[in-house]
Order: sequence, then C-alpha cells, then structure tokens
Amino acid sequence: MTITASRTWADLCAHRQEMEKTHLRDLFAGDPERAGSLSLSFDDILYDFSKQRLTRETLGRLVKLAGEAFLPEWIERMFAGDRINVSEGRSVLHVALRRFSAPFPNGQFDVMADVLATRKRMAEFAELLRAGKCHGHHGMAIRDVVNIGIGGSDLGPKMMNQALRAFAHPTLRVHYVSNLDGAQLAPLLQTLDPRTTLFIVVSKTFTTQETMVNAETARNWLKSNLGDEVNLANHFAAVSSRPERAAAFGVSRDRVFPIWDWVGGRYSLWSAVGLALMIAIGPHAFDEMLRGAERMDEHFRTAPFAQNLPVIMGLIGIWNTNFLGATTNAVLPYNESLKYLPSFLQQLEMESNGKSVSIAGDPVDCATCPIVWGELGNNGQHAFFQLLHQGGRIVPCDFIASVRSDYPLPGHQEALLSNCFAQSSALAFGKTESEVRESMEKESVAPEEVADLLPHRVFAGNQPSSTLLLKTLAPGTLGSLVALYEHKVFVQGAVWGINSFDQWGVELGKAVASRILPAFDDPALASAFDGSTQALLAYCRK
Ligand code: F6P
Repeated sequence: MTITASRTWADLCAHRQEMEKTHLRDLFAGDPERAGSLSLSFDDILYDFSKQRLTRETLGRLVKLAGEAFLPEWIERMFAGDRINVSEGRSVLHVALRRFSAPFPNGQFDVMADVLATRKRMAEFAELLRAGKCHGHHGMAIRDVVNIGIGGSDLGPKMMNQALRAFAHPTLRVHYVSNLDGAQLAPLLQTLDPRTTLFIVVSKTFTTQETMVNAETARNWLKSNLGDEVNLANHFAAVSSRPERAAAFGVSRDRVFPIWDWVGGRYSLWSAVGLALMIAIGPHAFDEMLRGAERMDEHFRTAPFAQNLPVIMGLIGIWNTNFLGATTNAVLPYNESLKYLPSFLQQLEMESNGKSVSIAGDPVDCATCPIVWGELGNNGQHAFFQLLHQGGRIVPCDFIASVRSDYPLPGHQEALLSNCFAQSSALAFGKTESEVRESMEKESVAPEEVADLLPHRVFAGNQPSSTLLLKTLAPGTLGSLVALYEHKVFVQGAVWGINSFDQWGVELGKAVASRILPAFDDPALASAFDGSTQALLAYCRK
C-alpha cells in the first residue's frame, strides 16, 4: 500500500479543507501561545514554525503519517548500516563521518578505523599547510589552495568555507573552481603564483568531466610556468574513492585521501571532501563542526517525533507540498556568509528527492521534492519578494539568520534582523483592505485615489514560512544546521517512499554531452542528433 492510500493521508486531505479556510491571522489571534508552542530549539538554533499554515492537530496527524511510512524503521536501518541505497547496493553512512569513536555502525561492519585514520591524515596535512611547512617546486611555502570539484565535491565545502570565513587562516587563501567555463579558472590563474599554489582535485569517481578538464588545465599551467621538470606531486592533492585514478593523474599516493561508496557526494562535506575547508578553518574548527552534526544525528535518532527538528521540518514540507499544493521552497538567508547555502540545499534536496519512482521501482502517486531556490534575503527583498507578497502563489520560505554577526558594523545587524522579521511577518499577516484604506485615509489621500490604489496595496498574506535563528555562525551550530537539512531530506524521502541516495537522473545529459563533443570537430557526426542540436552545432561552426 502506498502512503497516499493510508487512512491518515485521507484525514490530512480532509483537514486541509478546513485549514484552507483559515488565515494565519486567525491562527495567531485564536492562540496566544502559538509562537511558543510551534517552535523548537536545539543547542544554539531556534526553529520557529508558528508562521506555517498548520495547527498542533495538523502536526499530530503528520507525525502519525511518518509512523505509517515506517520512518522509525528507516532511521534505524540507516544508522545500522543497512544497504538502503538499493539501486546502487550501498549503505548510507555519512553519519559515521562525524563520529569520534568506534565501532560504528556495529562490531561486524565498522567503518570508523578508516574514518578516524583519514581525519587524522587530513589534520596533519592541513596543519602543515597552515604552518607554512608545505612547499612548492621552488621550496616556497604554499599560499593558495584551489579546490577543483563540482556538485557535492564543491558546494558543501565552499558553502561552509564562506559561512565560517571569520575562522579562516589569516594568510592562506582557499579558492573553489567547479565550472567547465574557462571564465572561472582562467582569471583565477592570473592571480596565482604557480610556485606557491596547491590544487586539490576532489572527485569521488575521478571521471567527472568538469573536474578532469579543470585539473588538466591546472597541470598544464604548472608545467608551462614551472617547466616540464616540475615535480607535480608538490602541487597536487586529491580526494577520491578511486585512488588509483588519482595516482595515474600524477598525485602522490600519500596525498590521496579516500572517500567510500557509502558516502553520497552531496553528503560528503564531512569527509576528506572537506579538506580545503579544513585547511581554511583548521582541524579544531572542523571537529567542532562535526560535533555539531553528531549532536543533531543523536537528536534525530532518539528524540520523540513531536520534538524532533528534522522530523518536524520534513513533515512541514510534506504538508506544504502534498496538502497545500506548494511547488517550490525558498531559502532566504539573512547573513552574507550564508550566501552559498541556497545552492548547497538545492543539490541536497533536489538531487536526493527530485524523483517520481519509488524505491521499489513503481511510479510515485504524489508530488515529491519542491523546487528549492533562494538568494540572500535582504537582496531578494528588492528583487523577487514582490511575487512572494502579491504573486498569488504559495511559496513556503525558510528565513535563516544569526542573532550576532561576525562583522558587527554599528547599526547593521539590528537593521538586517528587523528586515528579516518584517518580511516573514508581512508575508504571514499581509494587509487587509480596511487596513489599507485606514492608512491611506490617515495620509489624507483623496477618496478617488484610495479607490484606485486600494487593490494594488492589499496584501493577502497567509504565506507560510519558518525562521531558523542561530545564535552565531559557530562551526558547531552550522554543523547542526546542515545535518538538520540532511535528515529533513531523509524524512521526506521515507514518506514519499523514494531512495534519496541515488541520482540516476544526472546520467543522460552526461552521456549525450560526451556524444556531442566530437561533433564540434567532425560535422559528419552531427546528423546523429535531433534537428535543434544540429542547428545549434551548425551555428557554432559558422
Ligand atoms: O553529476 C552529479 C554528481 O554525480 C553528483 O552527485 C556529485 O556530487 C557530482 O556529480 C560530482 O561527482 P564526483 O565527486 O564523482 O566528481
């Protein structure tokens, strides 16, 4: 039986009909305790979901739904190391990457020796670099580190590096290159000194086209600037589950760091994929980040569902998507240091749950992952928030802010936070016709003008949002935040009955691209493609 055929799903559909008639204004007016009772806190994170279009009754039903979807069993299976990534025959053990003791997941199948040994090697290498004791070809200390990777081998460390830039090493510079477009790598190379630059090639498969092309260009750049006799081993490190491929590329074996098939790319920030991040912020802060994630793992594994942040967050998403009909979810950080969080969450959520086939291979008969998108909230206010306020669509929003700033310029932080709180409030409560009329009359606007402008100045409100308020952007708090979203994705995958850990949908485009590439040089090959592709190729040739 699919979850949509369950009694609780039907109850939620009926409940939705009642809730559709209820405005957030009524929900707040009818329950003075609402803000307190519809929020949870965990360490230094406050999760306020009182501006979601739901009640405690809704949550009770959703929690019941999670039970019917066997969420407790799925959680147990993940932490036990079962091969729940069935289409790839793999366990899902990224939680092991933020543990500090063995054995895990159990005495028979213990991955912790590898995890701890790799973390130690990473720390030693990071400390060497940070101490200026890692030398390039001419014996000069390495000053620039370039992470070459894409998707999960880029977005997580880059996002966290930006988020924790207040903790960054004062002189070592860390850069991230992902795009095949030479417009990213070429200008960066112009700023670098080949004698003092180290590239870390990060690729689980070590076959990803973007990464391999950028790594090749980096290698050529080193050779052409330092001479063919350059010892490339001094200028490369690698992270991969295929160490032999990294070695064949020219990376010295002692600088190849492993990852394992039980870590999905988008869940790999905690592994050696985070090496560039560790170099930037240091092993201590990196460990703090892991500890924050580990605390969230424990909370997710043990807390009752009604108090369990990832469970509640995941279920609220289910409510918005499957019952209120939302098709997107906006992520709106009010903190410049979180500017890459929306892109990171896009991959985490959409690559994990953007699927319409169940884990058993059957069509899923309900909507799954919404389109996740977003931008720094304060900038977005002056760009796309118009649609959120008056576009007439339901767009659930995650507002994310920190109480304290790492860059406390006088007058900035309170102004920023007041904008954050104002937006979620305006989206929830809107402005009624009578309120608009009253304020225009107070401004002595002429009656005909009031009549003309009234429809334009009304805000329907009732736009659902949650606010995640962090005390500061501390490594541990950010570790908890990212683990929270990871587990949210897991909760939703369990309810939708899909495998959140494969990504077959990315394969077709890669295969087609590799067939198109030779057609740039050999026009005869173009005839194999569709008319549009042929025309595009012909245009490029002209
Ligand atoms: O194409 C998608 C993907 O496989 C992601 O899942 C992954 O994070 C990214 O490419 C990079 O893969 P790799 O680490 O193997 O280069």
